[in-house]
Amino acid sequence: MLKSPLYGVLGTALVATAVLVPGSPAQAVDSPDISVTNTKAHLDQLQSIATANSGNRYTGRPGYLASANWVKSKLDAAGFTTTLQSFSTSAGTSYNVIAEWPQGDANHVVMTGSHLDSVSAGPGINDNGSGSAGVLETALAYAASGQVPKNRLRFGFWGAEELGLLGSKYYVNNLPSAERAKIELYMNYDMIASPNPGYFIYDDNPAGNGARDDLKSYFTGKSIQTEYIDVQGRSDHAAFRSLGIPTAGTFSGAEEIKTSAQATKWGGTANTAFDACYHRSCDTINNLNLTSLDRQIDAIGHMVWNYAQKDYGGTVPPTGPNLIQNPGFESGAVNWTGTSGVVTNSSSKPAHAGTYKAWLQGNGNTSTENIGQSVAIPSTATAAALSLWIRIDTAETTSSTVYDTVKVQVVDGSTTTTLATYSNLNKNTTYTQKTFDVLAYKGKTVTVKFLGNEDSSLQTSFVIDDVALTTG
Ligand code: PHE
Ligand code: ZN
Ligand code: ZN
Ligand code: CA
Repeated sequence: MLKSPLYGVLGTALVATAVLVPGSPAQAVDSPDISVTNTKAHLDQLQSIATANSGNRYTGRPGYLASANWVKSKLDAAGFTTTLQSFSTSAGTSYNVIAEWPQGDANHVVMTGSHLDSVSAGPGINDNGSGSAGVLETALAYAASGQVPKNRLRFGFWGAEELGLLGSKYYVNNLPSAERAKIELYMNYDMIASPNPGYFIYDDNPAGNGARDDLKSYFTGKSIQTEYIDVQGRSDHAAFRSLGIPTAGTFSGAEEIKTSAQATKWGGTANTAFDACYHRSCDTINNLNLTSLDRQIDAIGHMVWNYAQKDYGGTVPPTGPNLIQNPGFESGAVNWTGTSGVVTNSSSKPAHAGTYKAWLQGNGNTSTENIGQSVAIPSTATAAALSLWIRIDTAETTSSTVYDTVKVQVVDGSTTTTLATYSNLNKNTTYTQKTFDVLAYKGKTVTVKFLGNEDSSLQTSFVIDDVALTTG
């Protein structure tokens, strides 16, 4: 490789992944108002799915799979990496939807979950359309926020909870122990809009009460009184709890009766169940308290935003906003310049997230293609990282000769620096993330550029997605 002038100065640190900065002490992060209008629209959708499928969303019945597919499609469109995990139960096949945000330190995972299934008797709108719609809307809001999390955010929508917490059990049982060890916290939301609501916070978290206490102080700050409740593992946090993972969750009450003391505290009707339609056909779109829903989803947002930035001692990219516009190419070539046709939603190559990506080369002809974006790196930056996901497939068969290449470059005026070169020898059809230190360019407006080159025959395709440039 021909060394560009700057290459020798910046040296190998530029192309290493060791550009990450240590986490900073925890500090409260402002979280947005999670939209109750959007959350209610998700609940309308779950009601419609039930209505179109014999009135329920029960495991093994079509209303459940339709619910899972719908949730997955919303998360896919927002840029999450999603998995539909199927498993069998006595009532038929069930599914978990798992969605992960593609940024943040993958060694420190913060999980939020809710069960998506109903009982067979009805549509399950409070139990647990409410938790699922709230967790879904929080995930979508996070994706839209442009936040760059320190930690990896993962969301689970569990199947077959009503058959004995089966989906969450299946998920943890099938996680390798190294993956279990990366989960720092699991937060669960099961029934959060009960029509005669209470504000309960799980108090069955033997691995630590930090998140329970955070939930309590969040509600206290909003002048909402809460009660701790030992839910005795009656929801999907139990599977995580049994592994020794810290858990937390909230609950607005089920079949239990609201006392007069509780009615004084929370309003509503004393000597009546928190949810008189619990596990009944009347758990419909009319079985919701929207004030409870609104307050609870803001609590979910508060927890997700804050735990996304919590310092778990890992090394993490600088957490400023992503300075790359249209970083996942989902708006097509908008904000990017270079060879036309590189940004594509062609189904021949999977995107890392969404459907669009930058597909350089792969035509098997002598040719070159590029795509790039101009970005201003603030002069005040103390850390700056460029990251991208790349997937390489090739028809070349050699294990020793470089024929086709893609270069990751920074163009600074008339100086072009190559941060890394990947070739047919780096073939890997699983997307991998590459990170580069670009602090050397603070105070400058540079172009981040990907430059492909291919020889006369045997194609190599370099597919790049989810580009980020963050500063600290
Ligand atoms: N998991 C229960 C159900 O789905 C509801 C519940 C949630 C009960 C949390 C207690 C605590 O039926
Ligand atoms: Zn239930
Ligand atoms: Zn439930
Ligand atoms: Ca994409």
